[in-house]
Amino acid sequence: MPKILITEPIPDEVIAYLESFASVTIGKKGTYQSEEALVRDIPDYDGLLSMLSNPVSDTVLKAGKNLKVVANFAVGYDNIDVETAHKLEIKVANTPDVLTEACGDYAMGLLLALSRKFKEAEQYLRDGKFTGWEPLGFLGMELRDRTIGIIGMGRIGQAFANRARAFGMNIIYHNRAKLAEEIEKELEAEFISDHKELAKRSDVLSLNCPLTNETHHLVNQELLELMPEHALLINISRGAVIDEAALAQALHSEKIAGAALDVFEKEPEVHPDLLSAPNTILLPHIASATHRTREAIGMLAAKAILSVLEGKPDHEIPNLISR
Ligand code: GLV
Repeated sequence: MPKILITEPIPDEVIAYLESFASVTIGKKGTYQSEEALVRDIPDYDGLLSMLSNPVSDTVLKAGKNLKVVANFAVGYDNIDVETAHKLEIKVANTPDVLTEACGDYAMGLLLALSRKFKEAEQYLRDGKFTGWEPLGFLGMELRDRTIGIIGMGRIGQAFANRARAFGMNIIYHNRAKLAEEIEKELEAEFISDHKELAKRSDVLSLNCPLTNETHHLVNQELLELMPEHALLINISRGAVIDEAALAQALHSEKIAGAALDVFEKEPEVHPDLLSAPNTILLPHIASATHRTREAIGMLAAKAILSVLEGKPDHEIPNLISR
């Protein structure tokens, strides 16, 4: 029987499915956040079902003498050295599509919570400061007719755009490639080729792009300075798309009005100046965290592993990352 390492506990249904064709080991929570632990254990396994928190580096892949496939329990796969994997003939797969709606809902939830100050207002009440209805208390930004600028208009960006449109927002976006005209029409979305121009025009700026060399620290001091003072920033992509020190500074000095962040550059660490920043919602990377979605993510990753271990041709392996 082939041997598979799942680096963290995942839904039972997925484990049962994997156990129907392989001998499965499940890592204890957090164990494989370290490269050393992966390097130590990987030589035993034919397949790796990794989390985005696992550094599947060059060294790890080279240590995987029997490794044939790495399936990431995520749509983003910046934690995997794909180039090395391909050189070593190790297949890599991710899990797009199944988490799109969960992430679209979540981004909309963050926007509502941030624009209407849920966090501060709730804290005020818990602190015993709610002594009567206040006509000027916690005035927020109404969404209708405001402009949302989306950087990264893939599946999740589009899911968010759809929801934002239902709230009466104008949609502008920046993406590697302009979308097909039918899609732009359907979303009533306008392509802006320069992301700085997009930042200037956005009442809400949302990051929905993958982390790549091009998007690393895309939101930096210069970009933050271009944003309107009342602007809100939402990030459910990857932490390193933002220069966190620059963002913390912009929030503390009220250069922008608030941020909702689900992801951080050095997870699980959070930049200390973000922890103390005003109007900032900080959450532990949970955009895709619904029962349905996490099971679907697991099943997709498991099916990719099975297809590789069965020797299926590339076009029959779900969501293979191509060379
Ligand atoms: C979550 O961040 C994912 O990439 O699926």
